[in-house]
Amino acid sequence: MENINWSEFGFGYTKTDFNVRCTYKDGKWGELEVSESDQVNVHMACTGLHYGQQAFEGLKAFQGPDGNVRIFRLEENGKRLQNSCHGIMMAELPLDIFEKAILKAVQLNKKWIPPYESGASLYIRPVLFGSGAQVGVKPAAEYTFVVFVMPVGPYFKEGFKPTDYVIYRGYDRAAPQGTGCYKVGGNYAASLRSGELAHDKGYSAVLFLDSKEKKYIDECGPANFFGIEGNKYVTPKSESILPSITNKSLCQIAEDLGLTVERRPIAVDELANFNEAGACGTAAVISPIRKIVDADNNIEYTFGEEAGETSLKLYETLRGIQYGTVEDKHNWNTIVDFE
Ligand code: PLP
Ligand code: COI
Repeated sequence: MENINWSEFGFGYTKTDFNVRCTYKDGKWGELEVSESDQVNVHMACTGLHYGQQAFEGLKAFQGPDGNVRIFRLEENGKRLQNSCHGIMMAELPLDIFEKAILKAVQLNKKWIPPYESGASLYIRPVLFGSGAQVGVKPAAEYTFVVFVMPVGPYFKEGFKPTDYVIYRGYDRAAPQGTGCYKVGGNYAASLRSGELAHDKGYSAVLFLDSKEKKYIDECGPANFFGIEGNKYVTPKSESILPSITNKSLCQIAEDLGLTVERRPIAVDELANFNEAGACGTAAVISPIRKIVDADNNIEYTFGEEAGETSLKLYETLRGIQYGTVEDKHNWNTIVDFE
C-alpha cells in the first residue's frame, strides 16, 4: 500500500477496511456479514458487558517471499474458541463459520497485509460475546462474533532481544479450576494491575505462579513460558494456563529438531537450572528472557544478554514455517486464495 511505513507498526490497533460478523439468535448462527464500521452497537444489559461472557482469539497471516499469504493454525484457533465458549456457556461457533469469516476478513483487507521484507504480519482478532440482554446471572440467548484484522509488529518492542520478567506473589491471574485455560477477557483484566506495576518497574511482563501453592510457574499475562535445559525444552503443565498454540507448535518443532520435550509442573527454584528461557505466543512469537526477578525473595535468575542458540533455532524454524521458507511438515498453514 502507498505511503505505509510497515516497519513502524508495533502491536496495536489500526483501522483496516472491513470486518466480518455473524450473530447467533433463535438457537442458530446466521449468515456472515461484512461491515466497514469499527463500532458495535450492543444492548446495555448484554452479558458480554455484565457477566464476562466474552472470549477472543489471536492468530496471524504472513506474506511469504513467494507472494503467498499463509494463516497459521486456523483450525486450532477455531477449536480453542469453541472450548472457551463451552467453558463460559456461550453458543459455540461452528469451525466452518470461523474459518470462512477469517478467510473473508483477510481477503477483503488484502492491501493491509504486510510484505515479507517488512517483518510485520497481519494480526487477526476474532471476538465472540453475549450480546443478548440478561439481568439475572444466566447465559445470554444471543451472541455476536466479529473478526477484524490489522498489521502488527512485535508485541514486546524489543522483539527478539531478551527482556526482564518479574514474579509477584501478591497477584493472581487465574484460579485453579477457574477460567485460566480459556481465552476470556476476565483473565486479562485480572492481569492488568500487576502488569502495569511490572511495566512501571521496567519489566516486560509478570510471570504468574500457580495461585494455590505459589510454587510452580504458570505463564505470563499474554504468553506461555518455556525453559531450555541442555537438550530439553521444558514448559509448564497447569490447569490454569492458556493452551498456547505457539507453544504446542514449538513442542513439535523442538521434537523435530531432536530435543526432548517435557510438559510438567516447573517449581520456581528450577529456573536456576535453565540455560535459556522465553515467553511464547502468537503476539509474542518467542520473546527471549534475559532475567526473571523473584521480587518477593530478592532472587534473580539470569539467562544472558543475547537469545540462546536453541531459542534462536526454534524461532527461525517457526518463522520459516509461517513465512513459507521452511517446509510445513505438519500442515499448519492455510494458504489464502485471492482469486
Ligand atoms: N497465554 C496467554 C494468557 C495468552 O493470551 C496467549 C495469547 O494468545 C498465549 C498464552 C499464547 O497463545 P497462542 O500461542 O495460542 O497465541
Ligand atoms: C495473542 O498472542 O494473540 C494474544 O492474544 C496475546 C495478547 C495480545 C492478549
